[in-house]
Amino acid sequence: MANVNLSDAKRAKNDEFYTLYPVIEKEIAAYVEYNPNVFQGKTVLLPCDDPEWSNFTKFFAQNFERFGLKKLISTSYAVESKLYKGGYQITMFEESAPQYDKSKTKTNGKIFTLTHDKTGDGKIDIEDLQWHYLEGDGDFNSDEVKKLRDEADFIITNPPFSLFRDFLGWIVQADKQFLIIGNINAITYKELFPLIQSDKIWLGATNFNTGMYFKIPDDFVYAASYKFERELNGEKVNRVPGVCWFTNLDHGRRHQQLPLMTMEDNLKYSKHKEIKGKESYERYENYHAIEVPFTDAIPSGYDGIMGVPITFLDKYSPEQFVIMGMCENEDLYNLKSKVYATAECKQAYLDKFGKKGTYDLNASGVIVKDGLLEKVYQRVLIKHKRTS
Ligand SMILES: C[S@@+](CC[C@H](N)C(=O)[O-])C[C@H]1O[C@@H](n2cnc3c(N)ncnc32)[C@H](O)[C@@H]1O
Repeated sequence: MANVNLSDAKRAKNDEFYTLYPVIEKEIAAYVEYNPNVFQGKTVLLPCDDPEWSNFTKFFAQNFERFGLKKLISTSYAVESKLYKGGYQITMFEESAPQYDKSKTKTNGKIFTLTHDKTGDGKIDIEDLQWHYLEGDGDFNSDEVKKLRDEADFIITNPPFSLFRDFLGWIVQADKQFLIIGNINAITYKELFPLIQSDKIWLGATNFNTGMYFKIPDDFVYAASYKFERELNGEKVNRVPGVCWFTNLDHGRRHQQLPLMTMEDNLKYSKHKEIKGKESYERYENYHAIEVPFTDAIPSGYDGIMGVPITFLDKYSPEQFVIMGMCENEDLYNLKSKVYATAECKQAYLDKFGKKGTYDLNASGVIVKDGLLEKVYQRVLIKHKRTS
């Protein structure tokens, strides 16, 4: 029980990881570079935000005129509804405002809007934000926030980590342009993968190999194994691996093709010991495909299906590859060449670990290594795109 509570507390705190300004600036720059008018005359909604702290609000308010925005809307979630309530402090900004209401400050969300030069100083910026309390707590799933979603052209945010799946469903339902932060492992969700496969959603422009830093609550406790920066620009931060942007906004990097070597050259010169000097690439026992354990080892000129790590998606260009499916239990993509019987899964476990158990061979691509059946890591199944 203690462990359950501990992990609940951790999950709650992870929902309060705030996005850093340079992270937002870098990502948005890629869309503006690709299409300088991308936000011209548009309404941007930033839900699950906390405009008093949020760099999303700050960034879009400061760039309101440069982007030619029509309207910026940002909503926050009431502290009483948050899983993690620590560190709450009412801001001077709220307390000194004429609309401040002691009975609503903890129970109601807030909405901030920016449309015009309220202060009359000749420019539209963060000083011109207007706000009031929402009727409810600011839950993205409330009718009130759904109405804002339906009014917006763009929905941009870092949603709560614990509700990513629900948030994704909420966004997809809206059929809007969006840019959200999530974990790369989410691509294996049944709701998300088909959208990636059909090029309706893709990864954002920032390469995520180096992990993403977030501003974190003051009482956040680092894992003993944590080796990265703890402070950036005076703010307490935590680096989270595997975090990426998901979007349906076009950017230039996804149209850059990967430079690749032929299979023959890979087998001769690859920097990976798993490839170099081998006679051929491994073939799966249960898929009509070859195993390619590294994205940079994808052989050019190979016409068959290839299983590649999910991080391939960061390099995926729809002009270069077709996504055929992924290795999973149900054969949703009709690519399996074999389904293992229970007895085979049991035998494979006994052979590998020397004790009774079940090796869930149907969940992955399987290769034969040293005479034993071996599951490989999560793989996406792809093919080269051939135009002729
Ligand atoms: C990961 S933080 C990111 C905050 C901000 N968007 C940013 O990137 O800096 C997610 C925020 O969503 C809030 N939140 C949690 N559940 C929510 C819900 N059901 N509806 C709206 N916001 C929620 C959390 O309290 C937290 O403030």
